[in-house]
Parts: sequence; structure tokens; C-alpha cells
Amino acid sequence: LQEELLARIAAADSAEALEAARIHALGKQGVVTALLKTLGAMSPEERLARAPAIQGLREAVAAALQARKTGFERAALDARLAAETLDLSLPVEPGERGSIHPVSQVMDELAEIFADLGFAVATGPEIEDDWHNFTALNIPDAHPARAMHDTFYFDRTDESGRKMLLRTHTSPVQIRTMVQGAVPIRIIAPGRTYRSDSDATHTPMFHQVEGLVIDRGITLGHLKWTLETFVRAYFERDDIVLRLRPSYFPFTEPSMEVDVGYQLIGGKRVIGGNEPDGWMEILGSGMVHPKVIAACGLDPEQWQGFAFGCGIDRLAMLKYGMDDLRAFFDGDLRWLRHYGFGA
Ligand code: PHE
Repeated sequence: LQEELLARIAAADSAEALEAARIHALGKQGVVTALLKTLGAMSPEERLARAPAIQGLREAVAAALQARKTGFERAALDARLAAETLDLSLPVEPGERGSIHPVSQVMDELAEIFADLGFAVATGPEIEDDWHNFTALNIPDAHPARAMHDTFYFDRTDESGRKMLLRTHTSPVQIRTMVQGAVPIRIIAPGRTYRSDSDATHTPMFHQVEGLVIDRGITLGHLKWTLETFVRAYFERDDIVLRLRPSYFPFTEPSMEVDVGYQLIGGKRVIGGNEPDGWMEILGSGMVHPKVIAACGLDPEQWQGFAFGCGIDRLAMLKYGMDDLRAFFDGDLRWLRHYGFGA
């Protein structure tokens, strides 16, 4: 009987056939089960004599079933592995990789440099009203500076009748910050600005960063130190000299334009050097006009400060050697890669 049962198991060529063989031997009506049941009716002596053989048969059949079952499972797994191929030698799809735009990169650098000096980052709306963009900055109606800004105006006014416009500089963020009144103030305000102007060095949309410090007893010395520290950190060298030229902005008094020294190296202007070959203008600055401080509701007798405004796109061009401002906003990856920005 054992031989016959083992032969059945060996002949089972599928999991179903094997299950049929199991039921035939060990199922409720199975032949081995029937033999096991006969043990109960036997006399103790007879049972002692016959039990080992019957138990041995059951164990042999169970072991054969298990071995065959394992064989089928392994075969099924092998078949699946063969079917589901995964070719690890295939080249990887490169996928889309992005990179930070130079303007964003410079904004991040500025935020970091000024954070070290205790400046927070402030923001304001790009759609402004003429009070914040001009009037509060001591540029009243009909002031010639308004015409110089080539302003984009909207047709509509706001609820209080103020003309709406695209901010022409980041200086309105000075106003918005001072109006909040949380003195002392140390902020930079980077962002988009707009003027109706377009050539190789002007785009209708461009970027500025504003700086504003308001505290007690702030002097030109603080302004000069801050700008020097900023420029040296930004261009990553200590031998940079600044030249402060008297200038005019309605919202600062005195006002200064600030130049950085450059050296001519192989016909190229490289910022830095203790004995510069020439000067490049990089920003406008000055002591905040008392009228501006007063327009924001602060007492100019108690609070003084300085402000500066600087073109971010120009800062990026100077640091990374780019020469056409318009290319910044063309979205041409070849241009970005050329300057080491594209992935
Ligand atoms: N807002 C000025 C401009 O756009 C720059 C500036 C800012 C000058 C702050 C002085 C102080 O030209």
C-alpha cells in the first residue's frame, strides 16, 4: 500500500493532483485514515503489534506529500521569476532635473548675508498705490521723480481714490514696514519691480533689494559699514573698496550712490582690489529723510536710519559674469547651463 501511495504522490503533476492524492490517503475517507481508525477497535496487544506500521505509513505519506508540495511551490516561484524580468543593466532614464535661477540664488545669498547682520526679510505687494510708492517717500504729485520712474499705471484707483500702479522700486516696503511701527527696524526687502523700459540693461520687470534700518542714533558710519560688510560677503573677498558719491533721492538726505572698485584683468572688469582701476555703480542709498519717517507716523527726533536700494539682476550679472539682462527672463536652459546654473 505504501508503495502505491508514494507512487501516486510522485505521479501528481500539479498542485491539484497532489491534493487529490492527499485526500485519497489522508482525507476523512482516505485509505490511511481508515487504517488508523481500525486501531481503536483492536485489542491492546494487537494494537501494539500493528500501530508502528500504520503510523509509519502515515508519516511516510505525509512526508512525501510535503516534499512534493515544496517542489511545486519552488517551481511556481521559479516560473514567476522567469516571467517577471527586471533588467538591472538597462540605462536609467535621466528624468527632469531643475535648478535654482540665478536671481533666486542671489536673493537667497542676500537673505543669508543680512540675516547674519540681524536683518529680517520683509515683503510688500507688487501692485501698489501711489501713496506708498511715491507720496510717502517724499515724491508728491507732479514731482519730476515720478516722471523719471516710467511707471505702469492701472486705469482704476483703490477705494480711497489712490492711483494703482506696479511698484517702480522696493522702497514702498520701507513705508509699509515703518507704518507698522515696530521700531527698531532692520529689514531687507527683495522682490520684483517694474518700469516701462527695455534694452540690454533694462527689462520692464526687474528685481531690487531694499535695505532699511531705523533705530536711535543711526549715522552714515553705520550705513557705510553695513554696505562694506555686505559687498565683501557677497563678492566673497575682503579687498573691495567702496566709493560713496553724493546723489539725490527725494526719500533720503543726504543721498549717496555707491560704487565698487574693479580691476582690469585680461580686459575684464573683476570686482575687488585695494587699488581699483575703475568704479562701477551698484546701489543708491542715504539717511532716511525725516519727512518720510514722519509720514509713517514715527517721530523723526527719536528715530533715524538709513536705506539702500540695489538691483538684484545687476548683482547677479556682476558675480556670475552675465552680460545681457534680458537673457535672465528668456527661460533658455542653454543660457543657464552656460553660466553653470542648469542641471
Ligand atoms: N529706490 C531707489 C531706486 O529705485 C533706490 C534707493 C533706495 C535709494 C533706498 C536710496 C534709498 O532707484
